[in-house]
Amino acid sequence: MTNKEAIKRTDEQLLAELGYKQEFKRVFTPLEVFGIAFSIIGLLPSIASVLAYSLPNGGPSAMVWGWAVASFFIFCIGLSMAELASAAPTAGGGVIQLYFWTHSLSSPRYRNLLSWVVGSSLPFPSDANTIGNIAGVASVDWACAVQIAAAINIGNQQFVATQTQTFGIYVAVVFSHGIICSLGTDILARLQNLYIILNFCLCFVVLIGLPIATPKEYMNSASFALGNFTNVSGWPNGFAFIMSFLAPLWTINGFDSSVHISEEATNAATAVPWAIVSAVSIASLLGWAINISLTFCMGTDLTSLISSPQPMAQIFLNSFGQTGTLVIWSFVVLAQYMMGSSLVLATSRQTFAFARDGALPLSSILYRMNRFTCTPVNTVWFVAAIVALLGLLSFAGAQAINAIFALSVTGLYIAYSIPIASRPETKANVVQSLPVAVIAVSFMAFMNIVFFFPATPQTSASNMNYTVVVLGGVLVLSLVWYYFPVYGGVHWFTGPVPNVGKEDATEYDSKSSSKVVDEKVEAVIMETDI
Ligand SMILES: *[C@@H]1O[C@H](CO)[C@@H](O)[C@H](O)[C@H]1NC(C)=O
Repeated sequence: MTNKEAIKRTDEQLLAELGYKQEFKRVFTPLEVFGIAFSIIGLLPSIASVLAYSLPNGGPSAMVWGWAVASFFIFCIGLSMAELASAAPTAGGGVIQLYFWTHSLSSPRYRNLLSWVVGSSLPFPSDANTIGNIAGVASVDWACAVQIAAAINIGNQQFVATQTQTFGIYVAVVFSHGIICSLGTDILARLQNLYIILNFCLCFVVLIGLPIATPKEYMNSASFALGNFTNVSGWPNGFAFIMSFLAPLWTINGFDSSVHISEEATNAATAVPWAIVSAVSIASLLGWAINISLTFCMGTDLTSLISSPQPMAQIFLNSFGQTGTLVIWSFVVLAQYMMGSSLVLATSRQTFAFARDGALPLSSILYRMNRFTCTPVNTVWFVAAIVALLGLLSFAGAQAINAIFALSVTGLYIAYSIPIASRPETKANVVQSLPVAVIAVSFMAFMNIVFFFPATPQTSASNMNYTVVVLGGVLVLSLVWYYFPVYGGVHWFTGPVPNVGKEDATEYDSKSSSKVVDEKVEAVIMETDI
C-alpha cells in the first residue's frame, strides 16, 4: 500500500465510522481544498462588487477601517468553524455537513429541530445553510453578469445593459456553471490550481500595478486615503460605518464550502480546518491591502465613483486607460466566473447530502450519482434551476438584488451560529475556546439584525429591504413544516441517516467502541466487493 493509498484508506474508515460509505472520488489535495475556499472568497472580483456598499457608507474610512474591524470578527468565525472541523467527533474524514455537526453536537432534546433548521426541510432546499449558499450563487452570478455588462461598456461607452439583457447574461452564466459542475471531479479539482494563481495575480495588479499606473491627479494624500469619512447613505455616521461591513462580510464568506467537499478530499480532517483558517486570514490581509491601494489611487471625487455602476471599473479606467482596463477587467470577470462555478459545486454537493438523508421530497431522484462522470449531475441542475429562477427577482428592482446579497450572508450566519453555539451544551470531546466562539456568535447575531435594515432610512415599498421578508418567511415555513400534524418533520425526521449498517450515525462518539467501527468498515468493504 503506498502512502497515498494509506491516507485514502483512513479517510474512508473515518467516513464509515460516521455511518456513510464512500461515494465520491477523493481527488482534492489539501491545496485544492484551500483553492475552493479561496476562490469562493474570490478576493478582487468580490471587492469590486461590494465597493458600492462601502463607498456611500463612509468612503475611504469604511474601506480601510471598516474592513479591518470586520476582519477581526470574521477571523473569530473562521477559527470557530475550523475548530469544529478538526475537533468535533463527526469531523473525521467525512460528512462534515453543518447540519450533521449540529445534530451530533447539540443536546438530544433539541437536536432534531435544530438540525432541521440548519439542514433540511421543505419542498426545495430552504434551510439556512442552503438558502445562504443558493443566494450566494445567485449574488455571485448576478455580480458576474453585471461585470460582463461593464466590460462591454468599457469597450463601447454608448452601451448600457438593460435589465433584460443583464438577466439574459445571468442565465447564460448559470447554465454554463451547470455544465462545468457536471464534469468529472478530477477536472474540477485540477481547475482549483488555476483559480488560486489567477486570484493572486489579480491582487498584485492592484497592489503593484495600480499605484504605478495612476496619474498624479488621482493619487490621494495619506490623510484622505486613511482618514476621510464621507457618508451619503442618510444613516447616522456610526450606523453607516457598521452597514459598510457588508463589503468584507460578503467578500470573506462561504468558507464552509471546503466543508461541503470534504468527502472528496484526501486527509480531510486536517485539510479542511487548515483550508478555512488560511483562506480567511490570507483574504483578510490581502483584502485590506487592496482596499488601501484603492483609497490611495481612486481620486477624491467620491460622488462620481458612487454613481458609477461599477466603481472599481471606473477607478481602473482613470488609472490604466481603456485598453489596459479591458484586459484587466476580463480577468476580473473570469475570476468572478470561477467563483460562481466553485459555489455551484459546493452547493450541489451539499444538496446531494440532504437527498442522501431523505430530507428532500425529490430525494430519490436527487440522490443519484452519474455513473459516467461520478458526479451528482441531478443535484447540479436542480441547484442551477433554482438559482436561475431567483434571478427573476431582479425585475422587482435593485433592492431585491441587495436582499439576495445580504441573504447570502445572513443565511450562512444562522447556519454557522447554531453548531458553534451548540457546543457548550455537549459532552462531546471538543476543545473549547469559548471566548472565540462567544465573540463569533454574538457578532453574527448582531450583523444579522443590522442587515434587516434598508440601505437608506428613507424607505418605501420599492426600496425596502426584502432580506427580512425572504429569510423570515422561509424560516417560519420551515418551522410550520416541522410541526405540521402527521406529515411534519417532528414525526419522522431523525437527523442524518447513515447508509452503512443500521446504527444511528449520531450515536457514534469519541468513546464508541472500535468493534462497532470495525463492523462498519467491514460492511463497507463487503459492499464494495459486491
Ligand atoms: C472627504 O473628502 C471629500 C471629497 O474630497 C470632502 O468634500 C470632505 O470634506 C472630506 N471629509 C473629511 C472629513 O475630510
